[in-house]
Amino acid sequence: MGCRAVDGFEARYGEMPEVLARAPGRVNIIGEHTDYNDGFVLPMAIDRFVWVAARGTPGRRVSVYSMNFGEAAGFDLDRFSRGGSGWGEYVKGVVWAFREAGYDLVGWKGVVRGNVPVGAGLSSSAALELAVARIFAYLSGIPWEPVEMAKLCQRAENQWVGTRCGIMDQLVSAAGVAGHALLIDTRDLSLEPVPLPPGTTLVVLDTGTRRNLAGSAYNERRSQCEAAARFFGVPALRDVTLGEFLAKGAGMGGPFWQRARHVITENARTLDAADAMRRGDAKALGRLMSESHRSLRDDFEVSSRELDAVVECAMARPECYGARMTGAGFGGCAIALVRSDSVDEFIPSVSSCYAEMIGISLKAYPCVPSGGATILPVAGKI
Ligand code: GLA
Repeated sequence: MGCRAVDGFEARYGEMPEVLARAPGRVNIIGEHTDYNDGFVLPMAIDRFVWVAARGTPGRRVSVYSMNFGEAAGFDLDRFSRGGSGWGEYVKGVVWAFREAGYDLVGWKGVVRGNVPVGAGLSSSAALELAVARIFAYLSGIPWEPVEMAKLCQRAENQWVGTRCGIMDQLVSAAGVAGHALLIDTRDLSLEPVPLPPGTTLVVLDTGTRRNLAGSAYNERRSQCEAAARFFGVPALRDVTLGEFLAKGAGMGGPFWQRARHVITENARTLDAADAMRRGDAKALGRLMSESHRSLRDDFEVSSRELDAVVECAMARPECYGARMTGAGFGGCAIALVRSDSVDEFIPSVSSCYAEMIGISLKAYPCVPSGGATILPVAGKI
């Protein structure tokens, strides 16, 4: 795939690129809708990527061609405005954020290609942002500092694209560690790599449905959490203990109580899950993942009929330790923690169960914990 971005560059511009960058998508093992509440998350960068092949140009122009969309986007570094194709806005957003932070950028031409499915909850947009940021940093002589670059890309998404997302996706795409998930404290951005329990594999279960109105529903959930934090008089729901919640929370009523209960219990589950991973306890981890799904379904109300069905199909299998939706929800993907030696039986069985229940064919594949955004040799095969 990376080579295909290089080939695509050569075909389009008649010369070799100067640099090839790659950034991963992610699954989130647990800790959903907690990052914008200053809480804990446990994502893992996966072996699905966005590649950008590029060459610096003397002028102030950025010209990018998306091999996936068969579409070009171009703008001047000093003069650009909103509007244009979806993916191109992420490129502009990254430029906007670099410039806001006071960095000097140089122009380039390039091609982008990815195999992170779009809108599936696997963070294709964060992967695109980080791959583009790596190209800009490389060509403009900006030192690559993963946490700073993740913050910059989050700003691009919050303020240019308009999704009030948290830091999780950008941070794991920037700072992922091969062979590990990352426990992230989103308040101080400290990171701890933790491995999957020995003998287990995470399988992505793509329901084939894509998010519907995710942007507005996502921003609405975030506002509800902020209102719940104000009720408790704290900066974020991270600061409310379960005891305080049970003692005083009832006064909140409405959806606020349910939203807060999800976030508060999910933070505790995430810390427990990291413990289970440190101990190599697949059963405990799986149980926590399944509890997380129920909480997202019933309290946070961001699951869907298809996600619930695929989780149910996965949970019916003896080789599955636990399963849950992953990412923002409202469609997209679930993940299952499966005994590695039984993945080949798991996938066809869950696929036929899902097809029978929902009538859509499931795309299911194991994923490999991968490293964060990187520069690759242009000529290398990957
Ligand atoms: C999206 C956002 C993340 C996070 C998840 C939900 O992926 O980009 O910041 O809030 O949803 O956990």
